Amino acid sequence: MDLTVNTPVKKLVVLGSTGSIGTQTLEVVRAFPERFEIVGLVNGRNTELFKKQLEEFKPVFFDTLGDIDANYAGSQFAPVEEIVSRPEVDLVMAAMVGCAGLLPVIAALNAGKDLALANKEVIVMAGDLLMKGAREGGAMILPADSEPSAIWQCLEGETSYPSRLIITASGGAFRDRTWESLSDVTPEQALKHPTWSMGPKITIDSATLMNKAFEVIESRWMFDIPFDQIDVTIHRQSIVHSMVEFADGTIKAQLGPTSMLQVIQHALMYPDRHENSALPKLDAVSMGALTFEDMDQSLYPCFELALEYGKKGGTYPAALAGADEAAVELFSTGKIRFTEIPDVVASTLANHDVIADPSVDDAIEAARWSTESTLSRHNHCTILS
Ligand SMILES: NC(=O)c1ccc[n+]([C@@H]2O[C@H](COP(=O)([O-])OP(=O)(O)OC[C@H]3O[C@@H](n4cnc5c(N)ncnc54)[C@H](OP(=O)(O)O)[C@@H]3O)[C@@H](O)[C@H]2O)c1
Repeated sequence: MDLTVNTPVKKLVVLGSTGSIGTQTLEVVRAFPERFEIVGLVNGRNTELFKKQLEEFKPVFFDTLGDIDANYAGSQFAPVEEIVSRPEVDLVMAAMVGCAGLLPVIAALNAGKDLALANKEVIVMAGDLLMKGAREGGAMILPADSEPSAIWQCLEGETSYPSRLIITASGGAFRDRTWESLSDVTPEQALKHPTWSMGPKITIDSATLMNKAFEVIESRWMFDIPFDQIDVTIHRQSIVHSMVEFADGTIKAQLGPTSMLQVIQHALMYPDRHENSALPKLDAVSMGALTFEDMDQSLYPCFELALEYGKKGGTYPAALAGADEAAVELFSTGKIRFTEIPDVVASTLANHDVIADPSVDDAIEAARWSTESTLSRHNHCTILS
């Protein structure tokens, strides 16, 4: 298909452009220069890479936590909430990591912008409010996370409500070890994911299985389905990205290589699919046997804990996301052990004054309180081996 014929250029803002999802998003944009225009780029502190991106993509606007002149390479500084709300913006790729992504995401939805959502922490924090914001603003939320994307693709074209979502989990870096044996694991070991290459926080969250609980909470809101109709199964090969069961017992699965490029491209180009020679392909014959195992939830205390508080609702999920962000930082900087992550998160949540029917501001404040109180309790600690 000739992409230059009758295909309007999509005007994009990429939040978190210097990260794993952000750089892969720009890879897809690079492959289809006639299809996308970058209106805004937003990053944190990787100024060297960000400057290169500004020079290459020449967005009209940028925002950064780094130190860059307000006018750089023809781009102009503007606050992120203003960038995502600009009238010319069609789609915002939410690929910042952590709770800081909520405000720009809400600003984008309030302005009626479609959202490609990778930043799962924000839908954990305020799933109900996000979905309501999208409905009221007439915006689409397009999954840019592999498991929800798989579910979405299985549901495409279906008119019946699913009876069950089956989310697959690789099991993370320590899938063949007991929880008790993990007290001495180092951040370097936890950062070695068996099948996916991702940013550091999600990789640690994958090792604790916190990430899998986040995906259950994300799917609960994204597909408007009760928690008890969402299962998780261990699938070591990470080829089946998730499955959907219907009332007649039919199960649809979405398969793909362990690459986020397809997932990102599908979110950016929805509903079209296009050839892209940069996308890895899956060969059904050589992929070998696919296995599925029950997940023994008692082996993964973070998974159980996160689901418990995800189901409680109110500001608990936001406090959960904030406490997890702090606990991952504490582990990554040698302040707590890997096996202390669930206890540290649990003790913050036990002290949280929950608000039952929160606003966006309440969710942001709950996450801020939770991160700060978790860090302040443990920042002085050092692991003695
Ligand atoms: N990586 C994956 O394969 C994958 C898959 C599914 C879902 N996700 C989700 O996608 C999100 C991003 O993951 P990732 O792996 O791409 O993370 P990452 O590689 O750590 O990248 C995070 C990005 O966010 C930016 N950032 C961090 N704090 C910021 C702040 N306060 N303000 C503005 N920008 C900020 C970083 O900027 P600097 O680097 O410049 O500081 C970077 O661009 C996460 O929520 C993750 O759970 C990731």
